[in-house]
Amino acid sequence: MNRKIVIAVDGPAGSGKSSISRVVAAKKDLKYIDSGAVYRAITWHVLDSYGSVDGDAAHHNDLGNIGITQEFSPDGQVKTFIGNRDVSMLIRDEKIAANIGTIADSREIRNFVNTLLRGWADKDSVIMDGRDVGTVIFPTADLKIYLDASADIRALRRIKEYRELGKNVDENSVKKQIIQRDSEDTSRKFGALIKAEDAIYLDTTTLTKDEVIDRIIELITIKI
Ligand code: C5P
Repeated sequence: MNRKIVIAVDGPAGSGKSSISRVVAAKKDLKYIDSGAVYRAITWHVLDSYGSVDGDAAHHNDLGNIGITQEFSPDGQVKTFIGNRDVSMLIRDEKIAANIGTIADSREIRNFVNTLLRGWADKDSVIMDGRDVGTVIFPTADLKIYLDASADIRALRRIKEYRELGKNVDENSVKKQIIQRDSEDTSRKFGALIKAEDAIYLDTTTLTKDEVIDRIIELITIKI
């Protein structure tokens, strides 16, 4: 690809956005940006600094100074940093998912994150995943994909992910959390999860990871 392109991948928690986007990025020589990891990093920082995401602590204004960065390596690995600290593992904790809604509801925080993410995509061709990438961050993206799957299958995928990270989690609590996050993500006032009108809807419930990857690569070839 010679011209700079933007591919937006949105969808609910556990729909496979991140693992699929990373492989597509590696195969198509794109930079992968994980927007959810930025909200996770902010949640981690607020919990670490203030002990809670409630009240004014969630709206503190030092975010510009904490130095959130992300590194994507062409083998498909993504790392998220706060300053020099690699927080990639810390932000995958269940405690982060349980508290992230308050952070992601904040309009100030969303504006901060959107500006940061647009800056990261300024120079390179990118594939970015999240909830509002095709609607708010890049409404004119070259290709928009909305990935979906049933809540049951998404919960099973998350449990597998946690287990691969060596974490023992309760299946019921993961499923509850998926349902809670669906409700938070679709009902927030700003940046709610919603399929962009021009996004291509892919239900991955009965598809393998490879089938979804092939479909997206085919769409890139057809559309871009
Ligand atoms: O993608 P991931 O599941 O890591 O995202 C974690 C949370 O971050 C989401 O449930 C949502 O609350 C928030 N988020 C968001 N907007 C995005 C990406 C993530 O509000 N673009």
